[in-house]
Amino acid sequence: MAFYLVFILLLVQAYSVLARCRTPPDAPYFPSASDWAHLDRQVDGRLLQITPSAQACREMQDCTSERWMSSSFRSGLPGQMIYYNWEQDYDSKPPELCLFNGTVCKQGDVPLFAINATTVHHVQARVGVRFAAKYDLRLSLKSSGHDFLGRSTARHSLLIWTHYLQHISFHEHYEINGQDFGSAVKVGSGVALKTLYTAAEEVSKTFVGGVAATVAIGGGYIQGGGHSAISPLLGLASDNALEFTVVLASGNIVTANEYEHSDLFWALRGGGAGSWGVIISVVLRTFPTFPGVMHLAFFILPTSGMVSKAIAIHARKIFALDTFRTGQYYTIVKDEEYGYRMMVATFFSSSRPRIVRRLMRSFVQAIKAVGASVLVDDELMGLPSINSLLTRSDEIGGINAILGSRLIPKAAYESHPEEIGQAHKKLLNLGVGIEGCVVAGGKVAENAHIDSAVNPKWRTAKAHVIAVALWPDSLSPSDVHALKERMTTEVVPILANMTGEHDSGAYSNEADVLEPDFQITFFGPHYALLSKIKSRYDPHDLFIVPGGVGSERWRPGGMCTKDHEFRVQESRGSNS
Ligand SMILES: Cc1cc2nc3c(=O)[nH]c(=O)nc-3n(C[C@H](O)[C@H](O)[C@H](O)COP(=O)(O)OP(=O)(O)OC[C@H]3O[C@@H](n4cnc5c(N)ncnc54)[C@H](O)[C@@H]3O)c2cc1C
Ligand SMILES: *[C@@H]1O[C@H](CO)[C@@H](O)[C@H](O)[C@H]1NC(C)=O
Ligand SMILES: *[C@@H]1O[C@H](CO)[C@@H](O)[C@H](O)[C@H]1NC(C)=O
Ligand SMILES: *[C@@H]1O[C@H](CO)[C@@H](O)[C@H](O)[C@H]1NC(C)=O
Repeated sequence: MAFYLVFILLLVQAYSVLARCRTPPDAPYFPSASDWAHLDRQVDGRLLQITPSAQACREMQDCTSERWMSSSFRSGLPGQMIYYNWEQDYDSKPPELCLFNGTVCKQGDVPLFAINATTVHHVQARVGVRFAAKYDLRLSLKSSGHDFLGRSTARHSLLIWTHYLQHISFHEHYEINGQDFGSAVKVGSGVALKTLYTAAEEVSKTFVGGVAATVAIGGGYIQGGGHSAISPLLGLASDNALEFTVVLASGNIVTANEYEHSDLFWALRGGGAGSWGVIISVVLRTFPTFPGVMHLAFFILPTSGMVSKAIAIHARKIFALDTFRTGQYYTIVKDEEYGYRMMVATFFSSSRPRIVRRLMRSFVQAIKAVGASVLVDDELMGLPSINSLLTRSDEIGGINAILGSRLIPKAAYESHPEEIGQAHKKLLNLGVGIEGCVVAGGKVAENAHIDSAVNPKWRTAKAHVIAVALWPDSLSPSDVHALKERMTTEVVPILANMTGEHDSGAYSNEADVLEPDFQITFFGPHYALLSKIKSRYDPHDLFIVPGGVGSERWRPGGMCTKDHEFRVQESRGSNS
């Protein structure tokens, strides 16, 4: 046996790289008043100095507490986040807060300035993106401010506010590279879902969007993947995205589709919101509209043990709906008086009410049998158009909320329905609410062949289950910290355990921003390629959001990179 010794010499050089910081407002090289005035002229006088929503509300004549809680109303306030805990800076010492009933108001995590963009030029024009790059400013992007991870606001930042990019145009034959991709709609990144459902209805089309009113389909929604009640029938929203128009970190505007910038096109479909560039518009496939039926049931369950039993029944019976490609949402919340309230809304496409009733009856009867009282048995809402069934008129804002979530595999529902029930009980006992989105399977699974950055866990999932923690403004900042920590260390592990997987995944748009292994949890096997694409299109990390690609290089807040960052340089030599 030939024996020779090869030894590999690893020369490891570790050196510490000093932290890089973006320009804070007190730095001498922060843009001066005249620099800002110059920017304002370049954006046609659309630069705004912005304030937290509570302050903006206080300064208005007509901001009633009803309006305060209306997302549609809030949408017009450039500094607002729908979950306004993201406007607060609980971390500074002392914390910088601006609460609805407070007496003082600090800027907190609200950007300093915003460009109220209505044209590509405002976003791009040697001004928005380029201005931020020139002064090395923290940049933030926002359409609706609906983000559950606070990714659309950042302390000390310049905000590019795309809420007024409101373009909508329908095409019978959308052509890309000379090829007919069929019927589609081009949508500005500020367009709210209810606006698009209404417009689609007028031309007898529909599309894959969420069940929401003011979520911007071409903002964060599509970049996370985008689920809908009709996803089991037609796939995820990003499965139906044909093309994006994007302003890059360089300030250049590009088209990303299967042929041009196909790597960016891949990343924009599921690779996470806010990490790639400023979306101006997206082109989405459209379908002829069809009628829809929604079945609604409300239950009261006196104990969490009963919820456990009800959810185990639900888990066993859910496959009976598979042939109908239903989408379903259930919520379970504590009721101070009666125990727990459970609401189940099931969406059927093109089905007869009689069939829906018969199908749902056995489910409702089985839940009754565990001791539930049924408030609403089988309320049916049948509408000639799915658009109107999916449209919401408004949603509640101006409250505090954080989430934790997991994509629960179909296999988990098949192999351990009882444990899924018990996990729900554990979650409720920790004081969180639960929202189950049974929107996977069917076409979502069949679309596994589509090559995009969508978390592959979507393709094997049955449901996306979310735990929600809400809190009143009276909670102290240290208690808010404790609540966030419990979400990460106690709540999410129960959801993760429910999956029966070691490498469980979550939907990045509706998740815990403090996920310790967000790279795997949100992006699974795609992270390495996403990182490569990120460095190609955004080499200086202009677009950094918490829980987003590249964010591991930055400290919370995104103002400075992690210091004492050790870079390891290897060189290999071999000897025999
Ligand atoms: C009431 C409600 C209902 C929801 N329903 C659904 C649902 O049915 N299905 C579903 O999948 N999700 C749903 N979501 C989650 C939703 O997908 C996310 O909150 C999503 O981030 C919203 O995107 P947005 O652009 O409206 O929000 P924003 O808060 O404005 O932005 C969210 C993220 O996108 C980035 N972004 C915004 N605009 C742009 C732009 N022009 N270019 C590049 N990046 C941009 C932001 O930087 C941020 O990272 C819901 C959320 C809420 C609050
Ligand atoms: C503000 O105070 C009023 C009156 O005390 C109360 O009804 C309301 O709920 C408070 N609002 C918030 C957001 O805390
Ligand atoms: C932003 O621009 C739109 C469109 O021009 C305008 O209607 C709106 O009032 C502006 N918002 C603010 C806060 O200036
Ligand atoms: C995880 O699930 C198993 C059953 O599948 C259960 O026995 C165990 O208690 C769970 N652990 C946690 C932390 O919830």
